[in-house]
Amino acid sequence: MKMTQIFEHYHQGRYLEKLQQLKAQLNIPVIASLNGITSEGWIEYGKSMQQAGADALELNVYYVAADIEKSSQEIEDQYIKILTELRQQVSIPISMKLSSQFTSPLHFIRRLEQAGADGIVLFNRFYQPDIDSETLMITPTLSLSRSEESLLRIRWVALLYGQVNLSIAVTGGFHTVEDIVKALLVGADVTHLCSVLLDRGSQHLRQLLNELEIWLEEHEYESVQQLKGSLSQQHAINPDEFERANYIDVLESYKSPDGVLR
Ligand SMILES: Cc1cc2nc3c(=O)[nH]c(=O)nc-3n(C[C@H](O)[C@H](O)[C@H](O)COP(=O)(O)O)c2cc1C
Repeated sequence: MKMTQIFEHYHQGRYLEKLQQLKAQLNIPVIASLNGITSEGWIEYGKSMQQAGADALELNVYYVAADIEKSSQEIEDQYIKILTELRQQVSIPISMKLSSQFTSPLHFIRRLEQAGADGIVLFNRFYQPDIDSETLMITPTLSLSRSEESLLRIRWVALLYGQVNLSIAVTGGFHTVEDIVKALLVGADVTHLCSVLLDRGSQHLRQLLNELEIWLEEHEYESVQQLKGSLSQQHAINPDEFERANYIDVLESYKSPDGVLR
């Protein structure tokens, strides 16, 4: 066995142990996360996660398409292959976490649904390597997200909603109650929070839930269900707004700071 395999087995064992502990201690569903780029080896690990009590799996095919020989069709087929093999191994729901870098995301998401996915998570954030201009070293950087990043997710959920029967989750840039409300308005079922909780601590979740309740009351919604999808492309008053480039309007609405000539 190679060193990397020993390392992997050790981490997989610890993850499964943690999963069992969480299942024993929590009354909420526990979704286990699988990261990988090929179907070899780790599909079995999905089965172990199910046995350890996971209620669902999130499959993150963390793949940077850096091979000049590989077409987008081949890459999409690879995702479908991994999903199909995992589907044969487990009976619990599988959600696919995708990057935004697909040529035709909606078409591809429908293919994933046909191949047995139960949910979709939009979108993965790839960490961008940075260059230190003094040492000329390539350095990995961890930069937490900002709210603006949520808009990319919101647009694609708005376009997707009503076209598939998948559970739709958003991840990337959801920090405030306004971000969460927007996700619900376009049709998301789930909002993932990561950066904001790293930044403000897990107790911030309680504050966001309280703020959401207040928002619903103030805007006279009786339930989350009532607002879900009401601003998706299918229900929007101006459905084209989610597709148009809008460069002219956007530029005209921009106000330069005082003293800056345009
Ligand atoms: C420190 C750190 C570690 C992460 N590790 C993983 C991981 O192992 N697998 C994964 O699918 N996503 C991972 N993510 C991505 C998050 O799950 C999430 O999709 C991303 O941070 C975007 O959400 P956010 O804007 O709320 O941070 C990680 C993010 C951070 C900040």
